[in-house]
Amino acid sequence: MSVFDLMIKRRSVRVFKDQEVQQNIIDKLLDVANNCPSGGNIQPISIITVQTAEGRYHLGNLIGSQPWVRNAQLSMIFCIDFYRIKKWATLSNTAFKGENALSHFLIAYADLMCAAQNVVITAESFGLGSVYVGSIQGLVDEIREYFSIPKLVLPMMLLCIGYPESIPNTIPKLNRNIILHKEKYISLGDAEIQEAYEDKYGDFDEDPEKYFMKAYIEVIEASKQQGDRWLKLAKKRLKRLKITNHAQFLFKLRYPTDAMVSMNEKLIQSFRNAGFNFFK
Ligand SMILES: Cc1cc2nc3c(=O)[nH]c(=O)nc-3n(C[C@H](O)[C@H](O)[C@H](O)COP(=O)(O)O)c2cc1C
Repeated sequence: MSVFDLMIKRRSVRVFKDQEVQQNIIDKLLDVANNCPSGGNIQPISIITVQTAEGRYHLGNLIGSQPWVRNAQLSMIFCIDFYRIKKWATLSNTAFKGENALSHFLIAYADLMCAAQNVVITAESFGLGSVYVGSIQGLVDEIREYFSIPKLVLPMMLLCIGYPESIPNTIPKLNRNIILHKEKYISLGDAEIQEAYEDKYGDFDEDPEKYFMKAYIEVIEASKQQGDRWLKLAKKRLKRLKITNHAQFLFKLRYPTDAMVSMNEKLIQSFRNAGFNFFK
């Protein structure tokens, strides 16, 4: 398959087979992570692989509501690692102050996502599937404690990998023209914005399960693995929150924006606990 076909067909996979990922493949995934672009070629990342039943169980328990975390045969925790860089700088008689510089952090986070996405695409080429689990960012202290992660190391992204049992085929995307601005930024009008998202999601007013297939696939995939507990809860919330359109659905139920704002304090404290101090 061409790289284009592979990337255009890629979908996040959340239902995995109980099939081990061979070490020679894991080595290759780590090689492409290590070979990714990196600001200044500093390579300020570390990856914790989790494969044992015990590790997967604990990681799954920490994350909570996402059964694919426990069911994936291989998980990778991508960390920003300023511990190693700072030690090296100190040993080399110079200073590295990444923990105090937002710009060092932002570049390192970009590096980390380059590494992770290299893994996603290469995994796909080996017939594996994967899904990012960003919820790890709300559990920085807990993950650091369980995985013995020292100060100046921040676990920032989790990638769950395994052989797909099922692959969603109903994930809608915006029309390419909506994200394109030729030469200068062109502000879309209200009607154009509304239309762009109507084109993406289609009608809202339909059977919730059909709607979830395209707008909340997680709950459908979770119900395949954990009974329909999450599906029932989502349907209940849909009614209780009186959701009548896609944006309300997204920012009240699937990615609740008030909850995101209220996470600030915990997240900033977790950064401080890890020795990062650029939020003065
Ligand atoms: C930064 C980031 C965080 C994500 N976090 C989660 C997550 O916590 N749980 C999950 O099931 N999927 C997660 N995803 C996967 C998205 O839900 C998925 O990419 C999106 O629905 C589009 O589907 P696609 O990947 O099949 O194109 C995350 C993706 C990204 C890029």
